[in-house]
Amino acid sequence: MEETHQQYIPALRFGWLTGLYDPVIRWTMREGLFKRRLVEQVGLQPGHQVLDLGCGTATLTVLLKQHQPQATVVGLDGDPVVLARARKKAAEAGIKISFDEGMAYQLPYPDHSFDRIVASLLLHHLTSDNKRLALAETFRVLKPSGELHIADFGKPHTLLMASVSLVVRWLEEAYEHVKGMVPGLIHDAGFIHVEETGRYTTTFGTLVLIRAVKP
Ligand SMILES: C[S@@+](CC[C@H](N)C(=O)[O-])C[C@H]1O[C@@H](n2cnc3c(N)ncnc32)[C@H](O)[C@@H]1O
Repeated sequence: MEETHQQYIPALRFGWLTGLYDPVIRWTMREGLFKRRLVEQVGLQPGHQVLDLGCGTATLTVLLKQHQPQATVVGLDGDPVVLARARKKAAEAGIKISFDEGMAYQLPYPDHSFDRIVASLLLHHLTSDNKRLALAETFRVLKPSGELHIADFGKPHTLLMASVSLVVRWLEEAYEHVKGMVPGLIHDAGFIHVEETGRYTTTFGTLVLIRAVKP
């Protein structure tokens, strides 16, 4: 278990590439489109507590807060270099977001803390064991009737996506994604109404949006 915890994959897989994260994701992952759609899907209400898990440079975190300024938005990431960029981005946008350094599989929050948790492009960074632990932690810190919203690689939905996803499939952590197993893992963590709500063609394969509810 200790070995599993030690495995950490930075935003662009290698720490020295972190500075390129924003432009690479913007141009390869149709970021504007899927993040806008994800924000709408999350449906934040005034007073909601929301966690952006694996927030990276906080592009989505900022969009969430701008969409619902009366929600409390928290971003968590395990990489202090990325978090420095996130804090700078939020300050430049003139908005108040709390950022915490921590691991998705060991969340530094009490039970029942959040109404919504969003995880965009995080799960494919985690080993199979850590995906399960992170989903269990997500379940623990969500309030009853709270919702989990995920954007990540999924089962290829066209022949073209099947061929480009060969690159992602090569990554051990993405195996369960391209095999379409992620909804099952979410269900196994205790969530109900697990549904795929959107599919996008990207440079590296099919990106899926998923919604799930804690009973
Ligand atoms: C591909 S980036 C996604 C960033 C952002 N959510 C987005 O959609 O652009 C993945 C992020 O997950 C973070 N990460 C990887 N493993 C993590 C872990 N075990 N706990 C917390 N964050 C982690 C990385 O530092 C990185 O910032």
